[in-house]
Amino acid sequence: MIVEQNVPLQAHNSFGIVAKARTLVRVRSEADVQQVLAHPEYGSIPKFILGGGSNIVLTGDVRPLVLKVEVAGRRLIEDGPRAQVVEAGAGENWHEFLTWTLDQGCPGLENLALIPGTVGASPVQNIGAYGVELQDRFESLDAIDLFTGKTFSLDAAQCAFGYRDSVFKHIAAKEGDFGLGGRAMILRVRFRLPKPWKPVLGYLDLERKMQESGTRQPTARQIYDWICAIRSAKLPDPRVIGNAGSFFKNPTVTPEQCQDIIAREPNIVHYPMPDGSVKLAAGWLIDACGWKGKSVGNAGVYEKQALVLVNRGGATGGEVVTLARAIQTSVYERFGIRLEPEPVVV
Ligand code: EPU
Repeated sequence: MIVEQNVPLQAHNSFGIVAKARTLVRVRSEADVQQVLAHPEYGSIPKFILGGGSNIVLTGDVRPLVLKVEVAGRRLIEDGPRAQVVEAGAGENWHEFLTWTLDQGCPGLENLALIPGTVGASPVQNIGAYGVELQDRFESLDAIDLFTGKTFSLDAAQCAFGYRDSVFKHIAAKEGDFGLGGRAMILRVRFRLPKPWKPVLGYLDLERKMQESGTRQPTARQIYDWICAIRSAKLPDPRVIGNAGSFFKNPTVTPEQCQDIIAREPNIVHYPMPDGSVKLAAGWLIDACGWKGKSVGNAGVYEKQALVLVNRGGATGGEVVTLARAIQTSVYERFGIRLEPEPVVV
């Protein structure tokens, strides 16, 4: 078990916010967690699980014991007639793992290329992009219960995946309530990649790339390259400009609410969903309120994509939160829609 005191977290959160962890433990195996739990001082104090830090806003130093997930390893564990199953340690970088799967001849995750963060965070958020959500490729995961020290496995149903949501984003008020937030530390995740591989296309940006290339039957590697190019053109690289990807979820409304808004805003971007609801583009709503390029202190709205809040250099978590609240207020006043943030404010 490696324990460090007063650890700067700037390099451990993709917003690049300056803050410190009072105490940080690097977790590389179950045994490290068991040691923390058996420790006379650390065993009983509150804990905060830190993955790639790509979905958090730090508003000050982190007082709970920070458990930095660094569980490594990646392997192909099954190569059957209907699917390949691959497994990765929760501390592996998501994009590097995904690139490795393609190098191994295991396609299926390519639409999720270049999403920042770690493998362990991917089911928490149920990450998704360009027509694929993590839950579409999820097999199972291993986790450890920080209250009891017991390891357990969960299948997709037990993870209760929703749009950018899972059982790990909910905190149970008492024993037996729904939610494993703050309690389960994910150690390893397994993915099922169906055979034969089929490309997932259909997104306008992807269709455009396909037309440009003149290909009708793209390979997984081509789709991977296109996704990387699309994302790089639209989204800021957190290593250059601090950010946490989309800051708000895309809201859903009833068809009646949507008709009401269309009557007032004929150009609104909206997508009918299979369950009858209508999804609106939060980026469009924010853009329509004139926020693109605006700032509060050193926190700003990205010029090329209004859904992304950025650190223009030296932003505090407080500035990010103030900006986010101001955006929520103006979107609510104009459209009557409450935007829900994606990242967790710590
Ligand atoms: N739009 C604007 N102005 C803007 C931004 C967007 O008018 O400033 C419009 C676009 O023209 C488009 C629509 O809004 O018609 C939707 O934009 P886009 O296709 O870029 O996708 P998104 O809804 O902004 C979602 C995910 C992304 C994911 C992309 C592609 C959420 C919250 N975001 O973004 O996920 O990469 O679709 O599938 O669901 C993330 O979660 O961090 C993330 C980047």
